[in-house]
Amino acid sequence: MSEFLATHTRTHGCGELRAADAGKRVILTGWVQTYRDHGERIFVDLRDRGGVTQIVADRTRLAEVHAIADALRSEWCIGIVGEVRLRGEQLAKGSPGEERKLKRMTNEKLPTGEIEVWIDEIEVFSRAETPPFAIEDDTDTNDQLRLKYRYLDLRRPRMQANLRTRSLITRTTRDYLGRNGFLEIETPFMVKYTPGGARNFLVPSRLNPGCFYALAESPQIFKQLLMVAGYERYFQIVRCFRDEDLRLDRQPEFTQIDIEMSFVNEQLLQTTMEGLMAALWKDVLGVELALPLRRMTFAEAMDRYGVDKPDLRLDLTLCDVTAGFAASGFKLFETVIAAGGIVKCLRIPKNDKLTRALIDSLPDFGKQFGLKGVTTVRVQDGGWQGLKGVSDEARQRINQIAGAELGDALIFVADKAKVANTALGGIRLHLGDKLGLTRKGEWQFMWLTDPPLFEVDDTTGEIAAAHHPFTSPRVEDEGLLETAPARVLARAYDLVLNGVEIGGGSIRIHRSDLQAQVFQALQIGPDEQRAKFGFLLDAFKYGPPPHGGIAFGLDRLAMLMAGAESLRDVIAFPKTQKGSDLMTECPTPVSAKQLAELFIQVVPDLPR
Ligand code: AMO
Repeated sequence: MSEFLATHTRTHGCGELRAADAGKRVILTGWVQTYRDHGERIFVDLRDRGGVTQIVADRTRLAEVHAIADALRSEWCIGIVGEVRLRGEQLAKGSPGEERKLKRMTNEKLPTGEIEVWIDEIEVFSRAETPPFAIEDDTDTNDQLRLKYRYLDLRRPRMQANLRTRSLITRTTRDYLGRNGFLEIETPFMVKYTPGGARNFLVPSRLNPGCFYALAESPQIFKQLLMVAGYERYFQIVRCFRDEDLRLDRQPEFTQIDIEMSFVNEQLLQTTMEGLMAALWKDVLGVELALPLRRMTFAEAMDRYGVDKPDLRLDLTLCDVTAGFAASGFKLFETVIAAGGIVKCLRIPKNDKLTRALIDSLPDFGKQFGLKGVTTVRVQDGGWQGLKGVSDEARQRINQIAGAELGDALIFVADKAKVANTALGGIRLHLGDKLGLTRKGEWQFMWLTDPPLFEVDDTTGEIAAAHHPFTSPRVEDEGLLETAPARVLARAYDLVLNGVEIGGGSIRIHRSDLQAQVFQALQIGPDEQRAKFGFLLDAFKYGPPPHGGIAFGLDRLAMLMAGAESLRDVIAFPKTQKGSDLMTECPTPVSAKQLAELFIQVVPDLPR
């Protein structure tokens, strides 16, 4: 143990001291942020997770302290005892311009900028090699290096603020849910593999040769079993594992705030969750949310925004102009319509930032959504600039449907409904960003409701569960399960914030006759049902309560609340796009002996 710590305990964090503390004797610990040698005096910015304090070693005051300080370098870890002084206190009182000089010496950018600590004792706890990048927020260090030296990256104030936000989120969540009668219960990570849903990571079982566990993609089935077991209200802040292709808002291991409630309907569940959001925004950000949150059906979201997670910070909406183009004389669109497609329009109110170059880049941008073209016109006095061959009558009708005014631009796409909506929804977000129309700093929440129960594969016509097979159909749609499953809507909901799905859930099926109908629609026969979900179906023979739940993506919530760009910035030790950890260099091959113990042989080029 260091001598210093044997006799000293830290009195303050480095972000805490103010002018009112002048004269106090304090003990600080932290890292050397910057170091300035002014001859007689050495000034060091001492940093800990709370902030930065300027400390001063003065040769005339204590020569041995000055000598130690003289050797300090960036990122050395030290402890000091010293006296808090107002900055510039040594200026002779009443000297000419004293006040101005004093003001100049205060660093208004720092909360501790009025004071400095004059060092009486100092101990170097440990030295540091020159770090591979400077520990500061405005770093343009590449991500690879940041992840390799993650423990240094995590020293940056921005990252520390992010992880503090995340910690506040979990604290408030536990507090709110605890107060509302939810019990925190853990469920297994190593679970039975069931096909469907996300791809699972597998864990070989040494004790059961040739058998594997799956790492749980969510505690879904277990939380439903806890409802059968009578726990009524459950939650868990739980790691989930999914072997998916990764994006900025996806990690292979991520954390859910997982919730299940008995004896609920959508209204009660959503209201309870709105209370959680309000508590989080108040405690973490000091923001009062206006409740209830807005609700929008899936059908409206797709129609007006082209996505199931609309970003409502942007006012632009899509409109359907198929009727206007049907007999317009514009052959290209007429052909698409005749083949069952639609024409959608995005109206951009007069905007100088919508340049020719930006308009010309849209067809290329649209290709990623499978679009063959994007047509843009400007609404002018005499007609449309940019598109010929549309009859006057059709043009006027389309202008009217779109609410077009002089100087506006109309952007059209024509394709199958799904492609047209998704693509124009993508263009909407792209232009919102490029034209600066997406309002930063707003919190636009919405519940997305009534999504389809099933996903239908366009080419094969095969039906799959859109969420999971235990999601209830809407009562009024139960009759369609056999006749028109594609039209059945679900008692499911997502919570969307600023265009990001932060949570999703549903009211579950608890009646075995209804479950049988859904399995039938999914063409899951009795044998398959037993093999995959036998234990759940058995449990449901013993008085299951009506129940429903939701899971929030904690990482996504933290990302949005911390104003971070990527999930990686709110996870202490995240994985890269390729699922690796650059710091520990994992995953790695393992020895033949280890593999043998697990009865596994690796065949790298096995045909798949
Ligand atoms: P779902 O699969 O919609 O639902 O997941 C719930 C929420 O978890 C977040 N999320 C992710 N976050 C980061 N990386 C990922 N790879 C990732 N995948 C999902 C999202 C999403 O809204 N058991 C159901 C919930 C229920 O029905 O109660 C479930 O897991 O924010």
